[in-house]
Amino acid sequence: MKAVILAGGSGTRLYPVTTIINKHLLPIYNKPMIYYPLSLVMLLRIKDVLFIVNPHDLENFQNLLKDGSHIGMNIKYKVQEKPNGLAEGLILAEDFIKNDSICYVLGDNIFFGHHLPKLMKEALKEIEHKGGAYIFGYYVKDPERFGVVEFDEYRNVISIEEKPKKPKSHYAVVGMYFYDNKAIEIAKNIKPSERGELEITSVNEEYLKRGKLRVKLLGRGFAWFDAGTHDSFLEAGEFVATIENKTGLMIGCIEEIAYKNGWITKEQLLKLANPLKKTEYGRYLIELAENS
Ligand code: TTP
Repeated sequence: MKAVILAGGSGTRLYPVTTIINKHLLPIYNKPMIYYPLSLVMLLRIKDVLFIVNPHDLENFQNLLKDGSHIGMNIKYKVQEKPNGLAEGLILAEDFIKNDSICYVLGDNIFFGHHLPKLMKEALKEIEHKGGAYIFGYYVKDPERFGVVEFDEYRNVISIEEKPKKPKSHYAVVGMYFYDNKAIEIAKNIKPSERGELEITSVNEEYLKRGKLRVKLLGRGFAWFDAGTHDSFLEAGEFVATIENKTGLMIGCIEEIAYKNGWITKEQLLKLANPLKKTEYGRYLIELAENS
């Protein structure tokens, strides 16, 4: 499986903050937003990642994450000329994905929860063995902002709608999707929505029509933030700060995960940490190397 992380878009809901800065590079508490979705993919032990980025942000992303070799990864970038919708990323990623299956993640989504990696690994295995699409639903109070899943009395999915005016349930589809390779062909054949975007919900609807969509619900023990509004951006930062300050452990620390995955050695970790040794982040990494 390969991963694609969407980090383009217009970020209008965060204006004027995003007038000159891409939202995925803004800090969620103590690290750039993009570290959080990247760390999820790393927890799945996926080393091949493609970032979909806006033309004028490419250089910044390359400066931040380079080719990924410093954290034992293989990172590539693909420019999306215009924010034509979430599903366009699947088409743009075709050459990168080749015949593989896909872990598709929105760059402004932040997840936290016990057993999250386990749940994601189940999804990965299911897609690799049986194909189809595997997505997650999360109970929210404002479902009209998201893609919404409707269930029958047996919890079978019967519909999935993008930002419905009258949502048929409170379950929003979160920004982490697992697809077999057919997703690329499906994305190529969907029509733009009324707002002129290629919607990821249309891809999911097609899988549903084919009887190939599985939806797993994330319970109350999980936290999910779509950090694309001022309030959710702030909430996500406060959440990360609270957990980190309580436990002394970091969320979304990509160097730590690379080290724990065995992708980099202790020496490589120290080499990354040493220039940062005057910072809390650097000291955290040094302690990690020295105590393990
Ligand atoms: P959204 O948050 O739906 O859109 P946006 O980032 O353009 O923000 P706004 O609605 O405030 O204008 O996008 C979800 C994620 O997908 C986000 O991380 C940006 C990314 N994205 C792309 O990479 N390409 C796109 O064409 C779009 C629409 C979004």
